[in-house]
Amino acid sequence: MHDIAIFRSLHKARFDAEPAIYAAPGRVNLIGEHTDYAEGFVMPAAIDFATLVGISPRVDGKIALFSENYGHVHYFDAAQLPLKAGKHWTDYPLGVLSILAGEGHAIPGFSLSLWGDVPLGSGLSSSAAVEVATAVAVTGLMGLNIPRPVLARLCQRAENEFVGANCGIMDQFISANGAKDHALLLDCRDLSFKLAPIPQNVALVIANTMVRHAITGGEYTSRRAEVEAACAVIAGHRPEVKFLRDATVEDLEQWGHEMTPDSLKRARHVITENARTVAAAEALIHHDLSELGRLMAEAHWSYSRDFEASCDEADAMVELAQDLPGLIGARLTGGGFGGCTINLVELEQAATFQESLAALYAGQTGIVPQIHICHASGGAHRIE
Ligand code: GLA
Repeated sequence: MHDIAIFRSLHKARFDAEPAIYAAPGRVNLIGEHTDYAEGFVMPAAIDFATLVGISPRVDGKIALFSENYGHVHYFDAAQLPLKAGKHWTDYPLGVLSILAGEGHAIPGFSLSLWGDVPLGSGLSSSAAVEVATAVAVTGLMGLNIPRPVLARLCQRAENEFVGANCGIMDQFISANGAKDHALLLDCRDLSFKLAPIPQNVALVIANTMVRHAITGGEYTSRRAEVEAACAVIAGHRPEVKFLRDATVEDLEQWGHEMTPDSLKRARHVITENARTVAAAEALIHHDLSELGRLMAEAHWSYSRDFEASCDEADAMVELAQDLPGLIGARLTGGGFGGCTINLVELEQAATFQESLAALYAGQTGIVPQIHICHASGGAHRIE
């Protein structure tokens, strides 16, 4: 995590004002992939990579956005915010402002600095961290007390309606609502959730394949369309099925022949993944770590073979982990097509595991990975 005192003094020097400081974390998903927009279940944890945000009021009606990661201050008129995304990092904070304005809130002038250490394009939700960080800072400045699930929804809308990425609710929700030392089983239908403690002797080892992942456009969108097409086929026979959350493998046996082969496979992943996610939460709550590991392995191969959202490197990272001492379970995490694997590892083996996996992966693929030992952390909060 970046040094908060340095961040504070950089904001002060740049904008000549004392900032209020907040942090919003990235996330790792233990299980439940591409189930959120099917109104199903996910089980993410917030992690100790985060975006810091500093905010101070301005009297000139301007909004100044600065990112320590990118440099340059960008100025906007608070009364005339851009209506469209500009394919720039400022789209994420501007998207949040645009949704808040659309909800009838008058946006004041302010200076905002961001500084993130969530690895970009690695499937750890750096963009959700920026959105949620902006939302807590700006609503804090405005004195608005928005319940966290509602705040998460606003940030998801910023990404859907302004940035133009058709993501579900998982990333923004966990960044806003994470709990230290816990994963969160989220029901994406009604946003109710249950906390599942991560045992003290289990480490979250996040292994970056270094293959870039992106959810704007491309494969994420086409997978989602295939999922929705499969759902429409089932709904044609069973109108009560609104999302794949409501469907069963029996539905696929009965109506699967009316789907394209790809759509059928995507739906099979989503339907079985929902069941696995609920079972994995039970296993975690009841300390049945071998069952949890088994479900994670099954989830990975369903994601790879049925959903076809893995890549050779991620499959290799998961396979290479299997024989290492201390492994409980491994799978590709996040939106897919690259990014990171999540490895649950016995804490006392974690450092050796990290080293061995890095060496094996580099030996097999020629790519030097970044492997981090992370902790489940709390959701977005103000730093005094
Ligand atoms: C991305 C999206 C999430 C979710 C995952 C896949 O992270 O932002 O909403 O769909 O992919 O599980």
